[in-house]
Amino acid sequence: MSTKIILDTDPGIDDTMAIFYAIAHPEIELIAMTSIFGNVSAKEAAHNACTLLDYVGVDADVAKGAGKPLVAEPRPHSYHVHGEDGFGNVNLSLSEKPLHELSSAEYLVEKTKAHPGEITIVAVGPLTNLALALDMDPQIVNRVKEVVVMGGVVYHSGNASPVAEANILNDPHAAEKVFAASWPLVLAPMDVTMPVVFTPNYFADLADAAPKMGGLMKQMAKFYIRFYKRYHGFDGCVPHDVMALTYLTAPGMFLRKRGSLSVVTEGIAVGQTVFVPSGKFKHVAFWQNRPQHDVLLEIDANMFLSHYFQTIENWEA
Ligand code: RIB
Ligand code: CA
Repeated sequence: MSTKIILDTDPGIDDTMAIFYAIAHPEIELIAMTSIFGNVSAKEAAHNACTLLDYVGVDADVAKGAGKPLVAEPRPHSYHVHGEDGFGNVNLSLSEKPLHELSSAEYLVEKTKAHPGEITIVAVGPLTNLALALDMDPQIVNRVKEVVVMGGVVYHSGNASPVAEANILNDPHAAEKVFAASWPLVLAPMDVTMPVVFTPNYFADLADAAPKMGGLMKQMAKFYIRFYKRYHGFDGCVPHDVMALTYLTAPGMFLRKRGSLSVVTEGIAVGQTVFVPSGKFKHVAFWQNRPQHDVLLEIDANMFLSHYFQTIENWEA
């Protein structure tokens, strides 16, 4: 049986890798994408989502989301990581597909009303749309099947500050609201994304095996890999956002731990995700009534690499 998902996304090169995976995997039904600011603006993200759908000849709703954080000052978009177009400057022809009339947050509220208990929200950008949906209709927590978030760090260091990952730092107040809500939530932090590296050779093989999706990812990745070389010092790139989806299709690849999450919203550690495993710090009032979520802490990177390759290859076979 396939899982109906709404992908909340800021495409973005690794978002593209996730979008292609969602389209290619037979157990995922991508019913919509809701855009959010982050790698690019919310408007660019929405049009990029449409462009990718057109590129592979697939249809799904696309709604435009929040353009700035709830409270924090907006941070610059990541054009230096993902290129001026969010796609590594590959000059894809832009889509003319119209956007959905509802905003991303309204779309999340309405779609979960129409399909109670059926929809999994996979969020791979800042969590502002999800926080706005919670404000609009707190009952959404009882209607979603699951929420899976790519973001944060548990024992790993950050990529946007020494202790913060970019999606969480881009809207720490939204992330805190989302983690404080009682919905079934799974976090895929950098602890499970950084061990997976797509190398130039991996892209070359993928482009040979699957020219449509693999060929485009190989082109886009050139820009992304240049950033990784400068910033992280290795020859390859990390497909962060895909991990939130592979948790749904291949959960056995991950080591998972239950506990509570919170986000620092002020000061030098702003954007830091704090994870307290179940049963620990019960004497501290703050953690006593905090909802329990699942956090992914380890990944079998080799299994992931062949699983991703196979999924994309099979779609084009
Ligand atoms: O830190 C990685 C995350 O930030 C990914 O979602 C990437 O696309 C950017 O949004
Ligand atoms: Ca993203």
